[in-house]
Amino acid sequence: MSIEIEVLNGDASWPLAEPLFNAIWPPHVVEKLPWGRFTTAYPEWRVLLQADPEGVVCHVGVQRRDVKWNGRKMRAGGIGGVLTHEGFRRRGYASLALNAAIQFLRDEGSIDFALLFCEPHNVAFYVGRGWKPFEGEIFCDQPEGRIRYDATAPYVFDIRRAPQRGTIDLCGLPW
Ligand SMILES: CC(C)(COP(=O)(O)OP(=O)(O)OC[C@H]1O[C@@H](n2cnc3c(N)ncnc32)[C@H](O)[C@@H]1OP(=O)(O)O)[C@@H](O)C(=O)NCCC(=O)NCCS
Repeated sequence: MSIEIEVLNGDASWPLAEPLFNAIWPPHVVEKLPWGRFTTAYPEWRVLLQADPEGVVCHVGVQRRDVKWNGRKMRAGGIGGVLTHEGFRRRGYASLALNAAIQFLRDEGSIDFALLFCEPHNVAFYVGRGWKPFEGEIFCDQPEGRIRYDATAPYVFDIRRAPQRGTIDLCGLPW
């Protein structure tokens, strides 16, 4: 089977990604997830793995954001929406898509670290791929104002230098 991997503009590629989201994270599933009640940022970019004829079988959302770590500006790459179609799991697709997302962020030249949020059952997956727990506090924006975010655990990936303690302000919506 041939698989194509691309990094596409987040808005323009939504119609390609939407069926995968509907299959894995339809609204009634999302609302029961720990992060389901939060307003999240729309991905700026999407890594898409497409199979023929199934279409998109794996997705990783990516954004680039100026954040603050202990009050100092740092540039983060936000990773979210890591999804593989149920019939295509354990083939290394999410690992491949995450690697492509990290390479994309590295190529940008100014990203200090990548950051994602995950549920306990996915921790081993990310730790096995080099992600480390961020043991400090996360703040972010929501429509009602600035909040401390602790619904899911933050994990960081070193690109130039990843903080592991302290306070990160996402300076916007979480992802
Ligand atoms: C988490 C998720 C994205 C993983 O996707 P995936 O494409 O199956 O991931 P990979 O194939 O890259 O790796 C998964 C496991 O399969 C193993 N694997 C990879 N290639 C393999 C292969 N060819 N044969 C057998 N196993 C393989 C990996 O080693 C890994 O195992 P490990 O975690 O025990 O080390 C997927 O399970 C999913 O979509 N879950 C639901 C949504 C979700 O929770 N997303 C995460 C949000 S934070």
